[in-house]
Amino acid sequence: MSALGTRIHPHYGVFAPVRGEYVDLVAHTPLPPVARHSPATSSAFDLGTGTAVLAAVLACRGINRVVATDISPRALACARENVHRLALTDRIEVPVPGPGLYPEGRADLVVCNPPWLPARPTSLIEQGVYDPDSTMLHSFLAGLSAHLRPGGEGWLILPDLAEHLDLRTRQQLLDAIQASQLRIVDKIDTKPRHPRSKDAADPLHTARSAETTSLWRLFPAP
Ligand SMILES: C[S@@+](CC[C@H](N)C(=O)[O-])C[C@H]1O[C@@H](n2cnc3c(N)ncnc32)[C@H](O)[C@@H]1O
Repeated sequence: MSALGTRIHPHYGVFAPVRGEYVDLVAHTPLPPVARHSPATSSAFDLGTGTAVLAAVLACRGINRVVATDISPRALACARENVHRLALTDRIEVPVPGPGLYPEGRADLVVCNPPWLPARPTSLIEQGVYDPDSTMLHSFLAGLSAHLRPGGEGWLILPDLAEHLDLRTRQQLLDAIQASQLRIVDKIDTKPRHPRSKDAADPLHTARSAETTSLWRLFPAP
């Protein structure tokens, strides 16, 4: 994992960060000024942490306290193991999950890479990729303003694969952002580098080769 300078270990059934390009987006997007100016008190939430790869990138970038959550017990065990192996236990907390998507309190930065496709998962591993009604995406957007400190921002990481497969329109995403009283401050795009995006024999080749992954910087609307 080049953004971390070390390997991240996925467990069976846990979303593996094989697509390094979205990790690089989180590694290179400027941190919110409030976190940069006060590193000793800076904080972040990583919602749906999986292996804890994004939490680890944020901690390595200097965020003082990262709280990482996930709905999957396997992901939580995997995240805890990676945090321990990377010697980041003083910076990253993986608590027992509460009833909602968000942990208690507020943070300078909330990062969320929700399941990419609104479709029904058929196996454990697919729960990281498929979410039938985009429940996690909508919960992230709906709860963001109430969980940001003043000056804080949300980073939504989302490939547009669902749009290329006619499972979601861009307008539906923009409407959901607006309905949550959020403002888009920036959108940073990257193209996939993984081998399947170049495999013409893949049945999803047309969609995969057209895919863009974006990091949407979201602020509470004034
Ligand atoms: C696309 S994966 C991202 C994993 C990791 N953040 C990364 O970037 O590699 C989505 C993650 O969200 C988790 N997830 C799905 N629905 C969730 C929910 N309702 N609440 C919390 N986590 C959820 C999945 O278990 C999975 O680990």
